[in-house]
Amino acid sequence: MTERYRHIQHVGDHGDALKHTVLAHLISRFKTQHQQLLFIDSHAASGIYSITAAPDWRSGIGKLWSSAFCEQPLLAPWKNTVLRCNQHHTPLRCYPGSPAIAFLLLRAQDQLYLGELQNAELNNLKHCLNELEKSFFTPHSAPTIHYYQGDCHTWLPQIAQQWRGKPGLLLMDPPYEQATDYEEVALTLNTISRQWPEGSLILWYPHYKEDLSFRLFNAVQQLIAAPCWQMDLVIRKPLINDRLVGCGLLFINIPSVILNEIQPILDGLASIFMEYSGHCYFGPLKLP
Ligand SMILES: C[S@@+](CC[C@H](N)C(=O)[O-])C[C@H]1O[C@@H](n2cnc3c(N)ncnc32)[C@H](O)[C@@H]1O
Repeated sequence: MTERYRHIQHVGDHGDALKHTVLAHLISRFKTQHQQLLFIDSHAASGIYSITAAPDWRSGIGKLWSSAFCEQPLLAPWKNTVLRCNQHHTPLRCYPGSPAIAFLLLRAQDQLYLGELQNAELNNLKHCLNELEKSFFTPHSAPTIHYYQGDCHTWLPQIAQQWRGKPGLLLMDPPYEQATDYEEVALTLNTISRQWPEGSLILWYPHYKEDLSFRLFNAVQQLIAAPCWQMDLVIRKPLINDRLVGCGLLFINIPSVILNEIQPILDGLASIFMEYSGHCYFGPLKLP
């Protein structure tokens, strides 16, 4: 049997850098616009990771953390969550994943829906968020959490109806282990965007050495009517032993005024990670 994806093996790579810096900015920005916010993380994984044994850390977040760009106010929401998880000690010892970042940024009146396929990851996540709650929240000041164990392609469409009329953000961050995952995620996003028209959707995707991202772009373009933007960063042409050579985010139904604010995040990350054979793009979804 093949081993299941475990995020600890890739934590802190340039994919996390793009996803988490943009996500933290968007959550902070949506909070200023809405009295109450839903945040859904369909592929939550474990929550907080020790970075001592994270092989991709040094070439990813480690590089960003020691750069001048890390001081930019645009990165402050993300940077503050990382510092809080380390009790403000540097050098860093641990790193928060997307559910921990969201938990620390949301307010008592907000709702957090966290899904994960693997039981062991979900149990770790519950433990991590309990610890964060004890450290950083007074009674009743933390956002309400709803946990879901199982395949998000089943539970998301079943509960999306109940979010109708409410503003919120969904992050989908699948591991893309099967070629069919690229189409499956587009089908689910299509269902969610119809059932929850007020929802703003974010999808992370990889450019692996054997790049199948075109399957996702084609499916999204055929299925989804709402405006779709793309932030794409390819750091280099693949080397012999490469795995992840780039990544991107698709944004569905996010106000253009907010999208325009995040261009400098891509520019800053490109200046840190992109090698001479790489490229980056931010604009409406572009087919290859
Ligand atoms: C890339 S990791 C998520 C990392 C996390 N979003 C972060 O940024 O910290 C992907 C996670 O999705 C889980 N997963 C895979 N297929 C899933 C599915 N169909 N439904 C829900 N979770 C799934 C995996 O077990 C894994 O923990």
